[in-house]
Amino acid sequence: MIKIAPSILAADFAKLGQEVAEVEKAGAHLIHVDVMDGHFVPNISFGAVVMDAIKPYTTLPLDVHLMIENPDQYIEQFAKAGAEYITVHAEACPHLHRTIQLIRSYGVKPGVVLNPHTSVESIKHVLEDIDMVLLMTVNPGFGGQKFIESVVPKIAELSYMIKQKNLDIEIEIDGGITAETIVPCAEAGATIFVAGSAIFGKEDREAALQSILVAGEE
Ligand code: DX5
Ligand code: ZN
Repeated sequence: MIKIAPSILAADFAKLGQEVAEVEKAGAHLIHVDVMDGHFVPNISFGAVVMDAIKPYTTLPLDVHLMIENPDQYIEQFAKAGAEYITVHAEACPHLHRTIQLIRSYGVKPGVVLNPHTSVESIKHVLEDIDMVLLMTVNPGFGGQKFIESVVPKIAELSYMIKQKNLDIEIEIDGGITAETIVPCAEAGATIFVAGSAIFGKEDREAALQSILVAGEE
């Protein structure tokens, strides 16, 4: 089964509560929360206070994507704000195994994110410790960018590694996802899809979300 995680980065921040409620009603499975610090990525978004603010508007799991340096310092805040998943970039974590254990210690599901150029081999030895791998199909930092097709073989490679080890790990894809780009990713074995502009950029969020979902399930 395919799951859709709308990214609130593309939502109207002046009415974030309603935006989140609307995509839940439209059939979203998770809410993707993009946290940027202006250091790890060249843009600043928002922090845990915004999660606190949207929490009352949705019953969906919050999927927190930390695009920040020093994530260890902030994991407690995001855990307390109600994160279901916290994903950290392998590129930002010199002690990735420790960071994963820290996330788990708060009862949150840990995930690791890989930039387009980072090999899946780099997380081979922590696969047993995580619940999700997020593969970036754009360079993180901004919504509305073009899908990088060369990541697709990485999805298949990761999917094979997970099956070989007989593990239960979600493969999430983030960046440039539309009803077209979801197709090769779903075929390659991805299970959760982030979509920002392709959902919040459209007037009819339900039609937009459902068309992506249907394309991914075919
Ligand atoms: C990029 C973010 C993405 C982004 C997705 O740094 O991690 O989640 O908001 O937006 P779209 O779907 O517009 O590429
Ligand atoms: Zn993201």
